[in-house]
Amino acid sequence: MPSPREASSSLQEKMDEAVAAVNTTMGRLLPDTDDPESPLFQAMRYGVLSGGKRMRPFLLTQSAALFYVDPSRARRAAAAIEFVHCYSLIHDDLPAMDNAELRRGQPTVHRAYDEATAILAGDGLLTFAFEVLSDHETHEDPRVRCELVTQLARAAGPGGMVGGQMLDLIGEKQEFDLGTISRLQRMKTGRLMAFSCEAGAILGRAGEAQRRALCNYAHDLGLAFQVTDDILDVEGNPEDTGKDGGKDARAGKATFVSTMGKDQARQRAEMLVEQAKRHLHIFEHRADTLRELADYVLTRRT
Ligand code: IPE
Ligand code: IPE
Ligand code: MG
Ligand code: MG
Ligand code: MG
Repeated sequence: MPSPREASSSLQEKMDEAVAAVNTTMGRLLPDTDDPESPLFQAMRYGVLSGGKRMRPFLLTQSAALFYVDPSRARRAAAAIEFVHCYSLIHDDLPAMDNAELRRGQPTVHRAYDEATAILAGDGLLTFAFEVLSDHETHEDPRVRCELVTQLARAAGPGGMVGGQMLDLIGEKQEFDLGTISRLQRMKTGRLMAFSCEAGAILGRAGEAQRRALCNYAHDLGLAFQVTDDILDVEGNPEDTGKDGGKDARAGKATFVSTMGKDQARQRAEMLVEQAKRHLHIFEHRADTLRELADYVLTRRT
């Protein structure tokens, strides 16, 4: 049995490898032109290529590996989900939303460029993600590509991330019960993580039970991930998180932390992580890295 330290360092190595691989794919995919509209492309590259844990690409490539998907295809889908995630961060940071100054240790896109360029960079990344997914190089079977596009649209759109962001803003002005906070967080964070795992299953033409197991895992993981994000907003070190801290309390956000306090919120995250791991039992030891990733969500500092 490896010690926890060894186990986590091997997870770190795998994550570092995945970050390098998806960064290369994204760098190649994102245009860098001299065209007159080039500030748009520069802002898109800035919003994507300046750091980030690449959790969603890691979930996608690990899930795809369970079904022996060609890694270069998995990396294209991983780039697409990261583009959508980065768009969501660029818009989340805008003055009209969270009004954040720092992201991944650097000025947010609207501060490095300007607000209109940041809005367009987000729009560009969102639409470009679908262009990448629907390309023949992502999968030879058009039904697989169509399924990827449909599921990403559902996860990112009004019934998923965007709807969750709406609830997040309403929650600044209105009291929410725990059920509504759970819904908000599952939509704004859980859905894109669930898509990341589901995409691996779609690319690998996995059976329904396997696809469902991965989705359920990622939903619970996503909720735990958002709870730890909320805890880090209170007690994280901005040098580690790369974000301005204490923003949720200042904005009056409805989170598990604001409702039940840090300690109970942490217990809730621990319970969710155990629940997430249980969904993976059908994959036996082949899903060990996904199990380790779930544990990492509880101890992360970034
Ligand atoms: C931040 O996501 C936004 C949330 C959904 C909590 P990450 O913590 O994955 O941000 P990066 O991609 O590593 O910067
Ligand atoms: C954002 O949640 C989730 C998104 C869909 C972008 P937060 O607003 O808590 O994310 P951070 O803390 O700014 O990264
Ligand atoms: Mg927000
Ligand atoms: Mg924010
Ligand atoms: Mg946050």
